[in-house]
Amino acid sequence: MELFSQLVGVARWVRFLETLMNKKNFGVGTMKVGVVLCTCGSQLEEKIDFAELEKLAKSLDDVVAVKKVDKLCKNPEKELEDFKGKVDRILFVGCSERSSLTFNEDRISKLLKNLGLDPAMFEVANIREQCAWIHEDKDGATRKAMDLLLMAYVKLRTNAKAYEFKDVEKKVLVVGGGVAGLSCAISLAKMGIPVTLVEKKPYIGGHTCQIPLLWQSEGYASVCTSECIMPVLNRSALFEDNLTILTNSEVVDAKKENGNFRVKIVKKPLFVDPDLCTSCGKCSEVCPIEISNEFDLGFGKRKAIDKDFALAMPDAYNIVEEACNKCGECVKVCPTNAINLDAKPEKIEDVFGAVVIATGFEEKGLARDSSIVTLMELERLIAKNFNGKPPLSVVFVLCKKDEAGYCSRLCCPITVKLAMRLAMMYPETEITVIYKSLRTYGRAFEAFKKTAEIRGVEFVQAEVEKIEKSDDVVKVITDEGEFEADLVVVPEPLTPSGIGLMKLFGVQLDDKGFPIEFQPRNLNPSETYVERVFVVGCANGFRDVQESIESGRAVAVRIYELLSGKVQKFVSVIDEARCSKCGLCMAVCPHDAISIEEYAKVDPAFCKGCGLCYATCPSNAIRLVNLEDKQLLDMADVAFKHAKEGEPRILAFLCYWCSYAAGDLMGVRRLKLPTSFRSIRVRCSASVNPEVILRILLEGKADAVLVAGCPPKNCHHLWGNYMEERRIKMLKDIMRELGIDDKRIRWEHIGVAMWGKLAKVLKGMHEELAGS
Ligand code: FES
Repeated sequence: MELFSQLVGVARWVRFLETLMNKKNFGVGTMKVGVVLCTCGSQLEEKIDFAELEKLAKSLDDVVAVKKVDKLCKNPEKELEDFKGKVDRILFVGCSERSSLTFNEDRISKLLKNLGLDPAMFEVANIREQCAWIHEDKDGATRKAMDLLLMAYVKLRTNAKAYEFKDVEKKVLVVGGGVAGLSCAISLAKMGIPVTLVEKKPYIGGHTCQIPLLWQSEGYASVCTSECIMPVLNRSALFEDNLTILTNSEVVDAKKENGNFRVKIVKKPLFVDPDLCTSCGKCSEVCPIEISNEFDLGFGKRKAIDKDFALAMPDAYNIVEEACNKCGECVKVCPTNAINLDAKPEKIEDVFGAVVIATGFEEKGLARDSSIVTLMELERLIAKNFNGKPPLSVVFVLCKKDEAGYCSRLCCPITVKLAMRLAMMYPETEITVIYKSLRTYGRAFEAFKKTAEIRGVEFVQAEVEKIEKSDDVVKVITDEGEFEADLVVVPEPLTPSGIGLMKLFGVQLDDKGFPIEFQPRNLNPSETYVERVFVVGCANGFRDVQESIESGRAVAVRIYELLSGKVQKFVSVIDEARCSKCGLCMAVCPHDAISIEEYAKVDPAFCKGCGLCYATCPSNAIRLVNLEDKQLLDMADVAFKHAKEGEPRILAFLCYWCSYAAGDLMGVRRLKLPTSFRSIRVRCSASVNPEVILRILLEGKADAVLVAGCPPKNCHHLWGNYMEERRIKMLKDIMRELGIDDKRIRWEHIGVAMWGKLAKVLKGMHEELAGS
């Protein structure tokens, strides 16, 4: 990463020199600009001279209407009725489109739609939160407001139309037929969306079918059986009109194509036609081959042709290909001619608008030893009534949190449930739970624990040193003594399944293989950094059955919203003639929106307009539409046009999501600051080119530049803040080499709630410049 970052730095430096030598000329056609000056119930007039603003607005080229309003947010459609057909872009001068509680960018979009204007044809001069509310001096605030108006105006003049994508394929792929995937697929299908569900096992229902007794919720202490609920859920899926279920199938390839996903699926043969099979079982009776049953995790047997378990759905038999010797006995007895031993895999290719990965979890390191087992293995042993030989003593050993580096959250509640169940089924069995810190969260699990204690389960807090096996006995050696048992249960940390598949769809994973959810995670549960790719259920974290179903259903609603397409003001585009195919853009794109074939190509339907590629491209081949270098420099040109003589001039590039909002909250909290700074709301902080900063300083457009981005781990574009931090460090090194004062550039992590820090930084910069 270090080398990579240095390469990017050098590339940008080369690009800077090139840019200096080759200034682009952006032409501006005819336009009709409408300016709305909002006094916010006249409160802004106390701090800003609106007559000056009005005079300025009227003096600007192509401004065809200037309107002063009292409270635009109350009834914007009515207030701007007279703009209809008269203007083709609007400059709002008033509150912040990021943080206003009454008139933010969503409402602006609605208003523009109502006026028949392109959604990108607006800019906001934020004279409230970052001007009137933080400055005492009316003259200074008015001067700053005039500059903010000018900055927004020069940018608005060069804005391009928004990108619109309406061709989302109205079909969804769900991979994984466990409870999360099934619930998501059923909900979507019921909403009228065609869904294809791919499940690698011959049956649907996933791990839940292997767990006989399920708790019903963490809040209410009751249980239910999978033999009751799974047929209900499976039937809903199997007989849903809009849902195609492909069992015994796997996704083998996927690529993005014109904003959608082209996916290749291989359906392996079951060798029994489920439409013909009546589940009579005659084939299994005559089959001479008995093998270990994977469904029972090795604690049960099946025939080479069999059902995986009695209630498996689809209700049909299947053949385990590797075990079958093709003797043909089954074919002879099948009354419906359902068996075809020569069946071949089927290849399926289709295009989908959204993808849901619901591949569940894995228990790593399965003991496969009848006296030391995992929780899932114990579930199967209980289901099989220990093949008639229940243990006389059982010790549960919690937990492997330190080894795994995380708590799987479910081990403690499952252990308590199983200990309670064993105690009820086998009152003679001695049961001990050894734990370090028991996490039976919620009312239900605590109630289960109490029941277990009443039934004689012993809970011992101890540190396990060793587990030793000799003959028929297993010894658990702890700092509190030794425990002997016929059966020791060691919960294994859960890990996500389907990591390869997630990578195939470009999903960013953390170091444990879990998907990184799109920021802000609280608002985007199960959403990945890749547009319209979701990960639900246990593949995304530790969820019980009820929570997995909730996550599947919730995502169905979100997908329904997204299938209508999107309108986006900011998007990257690549000039193929300039592209050198270096691949840096693809490497830095967190949204998997760039591919390289003949040249680098951005699929705008997947682009989130973060600008990471744009600021990284060494060939100057990428444009970030509606936030180009030229636009930033134009804004910088006028940012201090009305500034007081001798006052420091600080230009702050604040990232779209966090840092700009912190700037607004300085106003909401009515902090008081000098009028010496102007801010520009950029996309991710990493969309700011170092050369733009250098030009601003070298050409004297500002005395100092601050770039602020989201706090660590909170960048909305994953690593943008880290990239920009490194760039600024490198830029400072270059400045020192050139003999320029490197204190004129500053980088800060500023989260939304760090308005106090931002104010302090800006004041500090002001004082330093004022004193120098
Ligand atoms: Fe804030 Fe990337 S979005 S720094």
